[in-house]
Amino acid sequence: MMSEYKNWQLNKDDDGILWLTLDRHDASVNSLNHEVLSEFKQILSEIEDNLPTGVVIQSGKKTGFIAGADIEQFVKIKNVNEAISLVREGQKIFDQLEALKTPTVAMINGFCMGGGTELSLACDYRVACDDDKTRLGLPEVKLGIHPGWGGTVRLPRLVGAIKAMDVILSGRNVRAKSAAKMGMVDVAVPERHLVTATRDLILKKRPKHKASFMERMTNVSFVRPLLAKQMTKQVASKARKDHYPAPYAVIKNWVSDGAKGEAAMITEANSMGELLVTPTSRNLVRVFFLQDQMKGLAKGIKYKPKHVHVIGAGTMGGDIAAWCAFRGFNVTLQDREAKFISPAIKRAYKLYKKKLKKPVPIRECMDRLMPDVDGEGVKKADIIIEAIFENLEVKQQLFKDLESKAKPEAILASNTSSIPLDEISSVMSNPGRLVGIHFFNPVAMMPLVEVVKSESTDETIANHAIKFVTSLGKFPVPVKSKPGFLVNRCLMPYMMEAMALLDEGVSGPAIDKAAKAFGMPMGPIELGDTVGLDVCLSVAKNLSQAFGGDVPKSLEKIVESGNFGKKTGKGFYEYKKGKPVKSEGGNVPQDAVARMINRMLNECAACLREGVVDDIGLLDGGMIFGTGFAPFRGGPMKYAQDKGVAAVKQEMQELASKYGSRFKPDAYWDTM
Ligand code: NAI
Repeated sequence: MMSEYKNWQLNKDDDGILWLTLDRHDASVNSLNHEVLSEFKQILSEIEDNLPTGVVIQSGKKTGFIAGADIEQFVKIKNVNEAISLVREGQKIFDQLEALKTPTVAMINGFCMGGGTELSLACDYRVACDDDKTRLGLPEVKLGIHPGWGGTVRLPRLVGAIKAMDVILSGRNVRAKSAAKMGMVDVAVPERHLVTATRDLILKKRPKHKASFMERMTNVSFVRPLLAKQMTKQVASKARKDHYPAPYAVIKNWVSDGAKGEAAMITEANSMGELLVTPTSRNLVRVFFLQDQMKGLAKGIKYKPKHVHVIGAGTMGGDIAAWCAFRGFNVTLQDREAKFISPAIKRAYKLYKKKLKKPVPIRECMDRLMPDVDGEGVKKADIIIEAIFENLEVKQQLFKDLESKAKPEAILASNTSSIPLDEISSVMSNPGRLVGIHFFNPVAMMPLVEVVKSESTDETIANHAIKFVTSLGKFPVPVKSKPGFLVNRCLMPYMMEAMALLDEGVSGPAIDKAAKAFGMPMGPIELGDTVGLDVCLSVAKNLSQAFGGDVPKSLEKIVESGNFGKKTGKGFYEYKKGKPVKSEGGNVPQDAVARMINRMLNECAACLREGVVDDIGLLDGGMIFGTGFAPFRGGPMKYAQDKGVAAVKQEMQELASKYGSRFKPDAYWDTM
């Protein structure tokens, strides 16, 4: 008779196989925390004393195997030594699992990430369900760390360093079939065969997967430095070492200790311990929780729309419609004439092909996306999204008309990026029905959507919009209907400062390079070209009317010349095959980055003061997922806090005395 556990159920079948079911008692998803692991350790000791025919580890949850280590525990770690000993503890438990003298199988159904994958790697066999939901991965680098429970040692040993490093360094997910192909799992089978395949491995004593000769060669000491060069080059093309040290550490550890032995494990633990307390990891963990905060806004809201009607099939409307159909909604897409809709349908097909690859799901998405020139969908839709020209009168006319035709409970939403919602809804008999659902371009890539509330927007409608946004797999950030809302308003001063530097004769490539060195994913000058300089100019004029400030000459001049950026083939850069041609560029003034970033920070402060957004977390989440603001810095306000509010204020005051009142610190800083 074995003991009872809080998080694990133990059942022995007639063949003497022990089925270990992980079902964390206090969570809907299995993650590995201290309690789960210490129970696991006790179970392993019990097993050692009384060996069963085999051990199978499975999940008792409906969704997923194991999501990984419990990230909440990371936040509590105080110093490197504490981090290292925690990591070592986990390693030893997995070593104990690996050393069991009876066959062990991880039966993986659903996602299996991080520590879950490492646990499976310590088993003799891995069986995975071959459905689309089952994915394996070691996404630790996305949290600024690397696998620490033997993953960086066992995976290269199991499948060779080239394939293993591809998975570890990118943090990407692997589907079950690809995992089987690369040897990361032994077999991938349909769900109904999972148990049979698992039992078969144990009862028939199948041979364990072993790396091939060539795969083993990748881990040999004189080969490792050669391969490492190439790996480092690839990592460097994606992330800088000073910003994201973790992938570089993985390579370094592997070069020094290879893929087996105690020394490799200790190196992994020490390195992981050091990474866990770096600012990069702390901030990336924060970003992880910010995502939860944004998704959590929809918690408890009951709203299940089925039919979305989109009006305006241009850049935004077309892509919004395509995304909604991709996410399972029935969509009707309206424009003035069929010829304006067909490019959107073609783009949708391209998107589905890229995302889904197989003909049947692509067809299903295409079937859900219906062109609707006559606007038949209006009467039936649960939610209507307007994305027509940015013109107040035209939008007013449209919503007046929609109000009388749509179902009374249907949400009416505008994707406007600059027109105050109150102005649009002033002509409606029930202005409370209008909410802003502001997507970013390109819709399929940008994870953030601003849910814009005007003074009159009904609270329930706004909440339903939030729920709808999360069901699209996007992060909602609720914002007030003030010019530019949150993201454009805070981004624009940063871009305007970059263009002011252009006015002063600093070169575009140098400005972009400096911003990227700070951690922005793309420099502001190239970003302007990408967004469209005509759009930038109109937003800039709009915002400067509302909040003051000058529009840089360089921007006005280039728009006058008809060069709007990437879309016209020329902007501040010339474009060849969609890529900007950049010169070396020279240097920027010493305070260039401070000027650009402080303008953004100051605007963020103003937004918090005015209540455009509720709190610092949502602001930082909004800026990271809406603009790509350096995630390893945790968001603009976190960056300011880390630097010290007094230091930020002082820097702004110095810049103000040199360059003018646009740098005058906002009153909000005094309240922080
Ligand atoms: P667009 O010019 O590409 O598309 C507008 C479409 O609306 C055109 O196909 C046009 O034929 C159609 N249209 C105009 N009046 C109509 C009417 N009365 N009935 C049916 N269809 C009509 O414009 P884009 O860029 O897609 O912008 C649309 C809205 O989205 C604007 O309010 C804009 O401010 C907003 N937005 C734009 C972003 C961007 O990056 N382009 C980003 C976020 C919001």
